[in-house]
Amino acid sequence: MLKHRKTIESLEPYRPGKPISEVKRELGLTDIVKLASNENPLGCSPKAVRAIIEWTKDIALYPDGNCTELRNALASRFSLSPSRFLFGAGTDQILEIIAQTYINSGDNTIMGWPSFSRYEAVTRIMDGTAIKVTLTGDYRLDLKAFLDAIDDKTRIIWICNPNNPTGTIITEQEQREFLKRVPDNILVVLDEAYHEYVQDANYPRSIQLLDEYDNIIILRTFSKIYGLAGLRVGYAISNENIISYLNRVRGPFNVNAAAQVAAVASLEDREFVEDSIRINQEGKQYLYRAFDDMGLEYIPTHGNFIMVNVKKDSVQVFRDLLLKGVIVRSGDIFDMDNWLRITVGTPEQNATLINALKTVL
Ligand SMILES: Cc1ncc(COP(=O)(O)O)c(C=O)c1O
Repeated sequence: MLKHRKTIESLEPYRPGKPISEVKRELGLTDIVKLASNENPLGCSPKAVRAIIEWTKDIALYPDGNCTELRNALASRFSLSPSRFLFGAGTDQILEIIAQTYINSGDNTIMGWPSFSRYEAVTRIMDGTAIKVTLTGDYRLDLKAFLDAIDDKTRIIWICNPNNPTGTIITEQEQREFLKRVPDNILVVLDEAYHEYVQDANYPRSIQLLDEYDNIIILRTFSKIYGLAGLRVGYAISNENIISYLNRVRGPFNVNAAAQVAAVASLEDREFVEDSIRINQEGKQYLYRAFDDMGLEYIPTHGNFIMVNVKKDSVQVFRDLLLKGVIVRSGDIFDMDNWLRITVGTPEQNATLINALKTVL
């Protein structure tokens, strides 16, 4: 009989948001509004689409395993050496690579809770334990409690900033104070998947910290503001030493060629990024007002998603919204049973969501 690794036994597969096609088919609906996975409601840059069409003549060729063009484009944008970048099929894959590089059986990692669930999954796959530190009363990462949780088995600390699902941030000063206190044999992963959306002057400029600390990795993605989630491309920025070890684990052609050309083209389209920020800001204000009118508590967000307390079983509300063609995330997966996580959409999508929510509640 086949024997899987023991540590896999208790793992559960990731529960993705419902795909639009499935909801359409199951419910016989034609118009679906998906606000479940923090995707960009504007799609992606037309420059990215053109780059992919141009690239199709090369489909038969393996991708550039070094992501040279993308690497150089980012290196020049951030004025960093190209050797400080590592690319992955989404930051999801980089989380796996980090875990495979640094976690031995019996080690632990520290994360907030609720926070991005993959930190726990990648830890457990490596037979480690994820220590989950409850958020503060105002739904922020409790960095003091993170420090208290450190022990001699701690290998990695996951900082999700802005935090998914609460949309809260830690500030530059808080991050600096924290890093000063973390022993330098512990890796600190600064997951900044949503950083482009943040409009707060106190948000950390983490890249500046790279020269001060040898134990940090910054994660960024093309899935969110650049709207390339379907292509799977994200990157890590760190020092050459860390990157060289991650590269030993990384597969040779892990980022597909379409993703690479689209990412390069997307970087050139600043207008698309600015439009995405603007529509997100406007959408947030609209949703805040609507929730206020409805008497619903929400967590002011720095990302492109909002947690709202619907004061009812969120799984039931999720199902009721689904019947109306609106897909959101129920908070039960984050142990926030009466809350929904809603991605900020276009003005039309936001209005559809609010109308549906009013009917359902
Ligand atoms: C905080 C955070 N990190 C990482 C990811 C993974 O993004 P991707 O693998 O698409 O780059 C997500 C996706 O939702 C996220 O919310």
